[in-house]
Amino acid sequence: MVNGKVRVGILISGRGSNMAALIEASRAENYPAEIALVVSNKADAAGLERARAAGVEAIALSVKAFAGRDAFEAAIDAELRKRGVKIVCLAGYLRILGRAFVERWRGRMINIHPSLLPAYKGLHTHERALADGVTEHGCTVHLVTPELDDGEILAQARVPVLPGDDAETLGERVLAEEHRIFPQALAKLARSLAAK
Ligand code: GRF
Repeated sequence: MVNGKVRVGILISGRGSNMAALIEASRAENYPAEIALVVSNKADAAGLERARAAGVEAIALSVKAFAGRDAFEAAIDAELRKRGVKIVCLAGYLRILGRAFVERWRGRMINIHPSLLPAYKGLHTHERALADGVTEHGCTVHLVTPELDDGEILAQARVPVLPGDDAETLGERVLAEEHRIFPQALAKLARSLAAK
């Protein structure tokens, strides 16, 4: 811990808007975590440049450069540990993580998922919610376990589904809530780990 802040690594695959929300929140003096490293499994992820522009170290690692998934994830793990990372945030990381990596970070790795879990695990959550005609949708921050989108829920936010919504308008409403609850949930976990 430097400055009394818990060091955090963020894994991304894409645009990184949730990552940006975490970086922004971490700038506050009294925020209990700082972002030490961003790792993308895609070299062209827009989030990499976004992180660097915000002064955060950001690297890309390709699974193709390794013998297999376990070796790839061991390399990610090594990069995180090298920087003293204590909590991992999955922020639009679109690969399923292997059991060894998940076990190593158990209780210290969180994911943001765009649905009110346990409803709509997996992909295309907004499309599925609309197809079902639900009146409420939302997002969830949860601890990562080996089962997909299944760990203990740390935070949830609800949004209404409005007449005329499509996946894009509904997704934007949900995303605004993701950007609010992800930093809150990370702060809560960082405080609880720092207290141990
Ligand atoms: C978000 O909808 C998040 O819930 C899901 O992937 C998307 C990532 O978006 N896990 P961004 O890269 O954070 O903008």
